[in-house]
Amino acid sequence: MAIDVTARSARHTALLEDADRYLPGGAFGLFRLPDEVRFVPREGRGSKLYDVDGREYVDYLLGSGPLILGHAHPAVVQAVSEQAARGSHFYLPSKPAIRLAEELSRAAPCAEQVRFVGSGSEATFFALRLARAFTGRDKILKFEGGYHGVGDYAQYSTAPHGPVDYPLAHPESAGIPRVLDEQVLIAPFNDLETTTRLIAEHAAELAAVIVEPLQRSIPPAPGFLPGLRAASREHGVLLVLDEVVTGFRLAWGGAQEHYGVECDVAAYGKALSGGYPLAAVAGRRDVMALCDPRRSGSTDYAVISGTLSGNPLAAAAGLATLAELRQPGVYERLHAVGNSLRDGLAEVGRKVGLPLHAPGEGPVFAPVIGEGEIADARDLARADARATYRFGVELVREGILFTPGSKMYISTAHTDADVDRTLVAAERALARVVADPS
Ligand SMILES: Cc1ncc(COP(=O)(O)O)c(C=O)c1O
Repeated sequence: MAIDVTARSARHTALLEDADRYLPGGAFGLFRLPDEVRFVPREGRGSKLYDVDGREYVDYLLGSGPLILGHAHPAVVQAVSEQAARGSHFYLPSKPAIRLAEELSRAAPCAEQVRFVGSGSEATFFALRLARAFTGRDKILKFEGGYHGVGDYAQYSTAPHGPVDYPLAHPESAGIPRVLDEQVLIAPFNDLETTTRLIAEHAAELAAVIVEPLQRSIPPAPGFLPGLRAASREHGVLLVLDEVVTGFRLAWGGAQEHYGVECDVAAYGKALSGGYPLAAVAGRRDVMALCDPRRSGSTDYAVISGTLSGNPLAAAAGLATLAELRQPGVYERLHAVGNSLRDGLAEVGRKVGLPLHAPGEGPVFAPVIGEGEIADARDLARADARATYRFGVELVREGILFTPGSKMYISTAHTDADVDRTLVAAERALARVVADPS
């Protein structure tokens, strides 16, 4: 049964009105559910979310990805409760934070040392600062369509703008100093030839290449990431992998393990702390050494700090999350559940007569309506964005939650029954898109 929003309780409606009164756009950031399916969550359990009226959603939003074990996993709840009883914050490296750094260091080949920060945006921002401090160069190269959070350097060309004009960078936000336009170079994802040429041409000023190894939902072409590694190494440019989404999600060792690529520095967030606020910059010891506070006062000291960085509650949640993810078969299952949903969505598309597919990987992918292969941001932009978004909204109406037009995240809590229920809902949702394409 589709959700009837006109049946919202008066209390629920009043909460949404208050959200609009006190929060800009009634939102926390980029994301606001369309009015017709907006709701206030009351609680989450496993793969399900419940709104304040008690309606149930199968949750593929998962807090924008971090909840890789689903909501309120008992081991995470216990670890956080035990830590809370011992103190919520110290501003000194606590045992859970030291152990979490050790785990990350063991999991990711590049992660000889770790600096905890508060968010994925901070992690990418500080990774780039480290690269500039290390190389003594100022510019960075990112890919068109790549998302690295909300920092000034990251908010360039997160989507294509007009005709191809690489390496020109287009700011996506008001308030970014225009001097930065010159500091960011844009290259096409999965186009090794163009990227290698840009790296070579700008090498003298280029500190880092930053890349989402799985760019949004677009997998890297064979040879693309190793090619970036080789070109950056050849020119003394650091390769920064943004593993905020892929870390501990595609594999225990993230994209570095899954795609077999090396890097100098990586940014982590989301799954690393299982839904509690913590992220990390991790990298080669000689690069990370630049943020050692004992260097303070020297010209190559790169400041990376934050009051709540390495928070012990979040670190305890992270450790408990990683302990679950380390169990045998976890990643096989995440991939299998996600891939059965991806295949099922494509099948529903064939049945209903729309080219629905789901580029990505089992644990994270995005339903897209459109013809043809998707290798870069321009291919993605050619898909039917309107129908894709509309399908997402109709799915939420059916009680299947994710960001319409964007990604679906899989958790260890999702069951085969969740997948079946989602596919039944998808057929109804897609049929409504066909019946009324407006
Ligand atoms: C690949 C990637 N990098 C960085 C970020 C920024 O992380 P945060 O939202 O925690 O600042 C995100 C957030 O979605 C992301 O997807």
